Amino acid sequence: MTPRVRIPKAHSDGSAPGMISAPAAVYPGSFDPVTNGHMDIIRRAARLYPRLIVAAVVNPNKRPWLTLDERVHLLRLACAGIPGIEVDSFDGLLVDYVHRRGAALIIKGLRIVSDFEYEFSMALLNRRLRGGVDTMFLPASLEYAYISSSFVREVFALGGDISEFVPAPVLQALKKIPASSRAWPARRPVEGKTR
Ligand code: COA
Repeated sequence: MTPRVRIPKAHSDGSAPGMISAPAAVYPGSFDPVTNGHMDIIRRAARLYPRLIVAAVVNPNKRPWLTLDERVHLLRLACAGIPGIEVDSFDGLLVDYVHRRGAALIIKGLRIVSDFEYEFSMALLNRRLRGGVDTMFLPASLEYAYISSSFVREVFALGGDISEFVPAPVLQALKKIPASSRAWPARRPVEGKTR
């Protein structure tokens, strides 16, 4: 029987038929290093956005433990196999980067109530700056709400077990850093990367 209504095929990126193909969202952060808390946000955002750009930032206000190359390398290891994810890095204003990449939205995770004030002002600022970009917040899952990169760095430097807090491939790469070079702010190359 001939269909009475012509039903367009879905876009290859999964967006609804008849709609413009879904633009990308950007999840920015220091990722120094990427933790299971970040991965929780990445996995959930990837289900909402067929194209998710996870972007490590060059933050002049922070003295990083890992180099930008290392942070990107670990993100790639952690995100391998999750469909629709692109790992990248950027310098400069986040809104400029979002426009440059043709993305439509910033994704941020909110872990605890105290994150809110800072994140809210950043979101307002990012709506005001150069053309403006909106931010979507995802609440951290309860089991990850207390994890932060600095907590992971400190436990690791003091010889504690971080296997619960970072993805397995990230743990393997970090374990290759000699114990004598693990303390923040010392910067040591992760296996497979040079500075
Ligand atoms: N799970 C675990 N940890 C999380 C987390 C989550 N879901 N969400 C945030 N964190 C932690 C991070 O690990 C980090 O911990 P640390 O301070 O112990 O290292 C901390 O929260 C802060 O996160 P960070 O990734 O450093 O992000 P930020 O909130 O400071 O903002 C940018 C980072 C990239 C969004 C911001 O610096 C930026 O936009 N930079 C570009 C310059 C710019 O445009 N500035 C003007 C806009 S304000």
